Amino acid sequence: MVASCGIYVAGHNGLIGSAVVRRLSGAGLGPLVTADRRSLDLADHLAVQAFFAANRPDYVVLAAGKVGGIVENQAHPADFMNQNLAIQLNVFAAAHQYGVKKLLFFGSSCMYPRECSQPMPETHLLAGKPEPTSAAYAVSKLAGIQMCLAYNQQYGSKRFIPLIPNSVYGPNDNFDPKTGHVLSALIHRLHEAKMQKTASVLLWGTGLPRREFVHADDVADACLFLLTHDVADLELPLNIGIGVDYSIRELAEAIAGIVGYRGRLEWDTSKPDGAPRKLLDSSRIYGYGWTPSVPLDKGLKETYAWYLTHVPSAVA
Ligand SMILES: NC(=O)c1ccc[n+]([C@@H]2O[C@H](COP(=O)([O-])OP(=O)(O)OC[C@H]3O[C@@H](n4cnc5c(N)ncnc54)[C@H](OP(=O)(O)O)[C@@H]3O)[C@@H](O)[C@H]2O)c1
Repeated sequence: MVASCGIYVAGHNGLIGSAVVRRLSGAGLGPLVTADRRSLDLADHLAVQAFFAANRPDYVVLAAGKVGGIVENQAHPADFMNQNLAIQLNVFAAAHQYGVKKLLFFGSSCMYPRECSQPMPETHLLAGKPEPTSAAYAVSKLAGIQMCLAYNQQYGSKRFIPLIPNSVYGPNDNFDPKTGHVLSALIHRLHEAKMQKTASVLLWGTGLPRREFVHADDVADACLFLLTHDVADLELPLNIGIGVDYSIRELAEAIAGIVGYRGRLEWDTSKPDGAPRKLLDSSRIYGYGWTPSVPLDKGLKETYAWYLTHVPSAVA
């Protein structure tokens, strides 16, 4: 059982971090500790050391990192590498030094080989090259996964728990079409097209790639599960998915229906698609007793409702 010395949720304003705060707040596991980037830059080694020395959290959920869609990944690969590696080095070192009992870390399905068999089991990590459009991000996340396994191996513990959620969505997602992921960008673009009564919308790529979308509340629920249950086999990370994937075309049509956009969806096939398919094999975490509970249609409706009331351009 988790004691009440504090759970530090790093990145608590973000998509996953805010869901973790919502889930853990009502769970009675003890006080939550948070700090936004202005008061604690996790890329600053000394600041991270000072924060851990002052707060001494028992548990850490590391949901801070640099995240973005294809455009952002291609424009700023060095920033993805630098930021993620620095945050991981600093937070892992401090968590180890100050005796954190469990640290949850999020890798990404981008880490899997581009040509991986589907659904992707954790054993297929490092079996081939990742999709080139997000290679820098993927390698920075692979480093974090390996760091978890390395700390566990070297210090004979299971304190560092590496997780691989598939494409996450929900409240507090980034809805900017230039920097956000496909699902949130589609919500924004199709809402905008509806408001402006545009006859058609030109979407990126062929629409054929298939993706698995997991609601941030499901990821947060998996975090609660892993903080309160011990997992026997941590030689590998744990995939977190819902077990179903959809083509981007199917996703766009579903969002158009929810948003109420009746125009045409057109596809700019000159733009890169990214990996053809990314469906996780999540049978290991299911086998431990955790299962997801938010189906895509319900999650999309709730996310659009949140967008309408919270994103300034939608509210206006
Ligand atoms: N979104 C996905 O589909 C997905 C899937 C798998 C894994 N992940 C991983 O899960 C983690 C969280 O992702 P997310 O989608 O929730 O990201 P997000 O919404 O962009 O949130 C990231 C959070 O990290 C904070 N942050 C970034 N750099 C920081 C720094 N140097 N110091 C302090 N705080 C910093 C951000 O603070 P500001 O708000 O101040 O910028 C933000 O609150 C990331 O490691 C990501 O790689 C995400």
